[in-house]
Amino acid sequence: MDKRAIVIEEAAAFLSSWLDGRKPIAGIILGSGLGELANEIEEAITIPYVMVPGFPAATAVGHKGNFICGKLGGKCVLAMQGRYHYYEGYPMDTVVLPIRVMIKLGIKYLLVSNAAGAMNKSFSIGDLMLIRDHINLLPNPLIGPNLDEFGPRFPDMTCAYDLDLQDRMLKIAKKQGVKLQRGVYVSCTGPTYETPAEYAFYKAIGGDDVGMSVTPEVIVARHAGLRVLGMSVITDVAHEVGDDYVTDENEIVRQADLASKKMTSLFRELISTL
Ligand code: HPA
Repeated sequence: MDKRAIVIEEAAAFLSSWLDGRKPIAGIILGSGLGELANEIEEAITIPYVMVPGFPAATAVGHKGNFICGKLGGKCVLAMQGRYHYYEGYPMDTVVLPIRVMIKLGIKYLLVSNAAGAMNKSFSIGDLMLIRDHINLLPNPLIGPNLDEFGPRFPDMTCAYDLDLQDRMLKIAKKQGVKLQRGVYVSCTGPTYETPAEYAFYKAIGGDDVGMSVTPEVIVARHAGLRVLGMSVITDVAHEVGDDYVTDENEIVRQADLASKKMTSLFRELISTL
């Protein structure tokens, strides 16, 4: 058996015993911007990543490192409070391990959130952006022997972000009076923020915002046929040499927290429709 499959199997068996018969239908990655959602999960069971066999402790700023299982919008969900980033030095197999474990536990949907910097000049700090497509500039997490039990060697990525879920989310945002941008997310390794020339490059290749996560998780979810929704909170904007502006991680976390309420409300309503 593939070593990765054994790790996934053991972690899923451990979590399953903790879940005590609960059957989550959706996984939610609470990146920067959705922290608030964790407080709204009812009848919550919290399982720190460090307790799960094969899981290292999360280290990124603003990321706690817990699975939280409970009810949201009347549905059973499994939320990840914090994620593993490639820039932390984890191999890609570790970055996507929690997603594969949630897939093993039977989730059918993956809802992903993240903080991002905007190249699109019509976006402002504090805006939410529904991800309609992505450009993956991180190493592809499917490199290596294919895990056939999850999906095919060469997965199609035409509709990585589910069109029906996007449509529902746009309607929910309209109803709630929340401004929702839509665009293409570019992932890069980080941990440096972009130079002005890099922002210009990402814009030129078709990106609207840029961050350091999301795409590995979405690729692995799509490999297994899950339906995916992604949303960024715009925490900073591309800038030029000479602008009186410095990208600052504390400010990014602050901006993400400020957007948390409206993002949580959108996600809750979407989940109620699943
Ligand atoms: N670049 C990369 N990652 C980010 C940014 C950014 O501007 N903002 C939040 N995460």
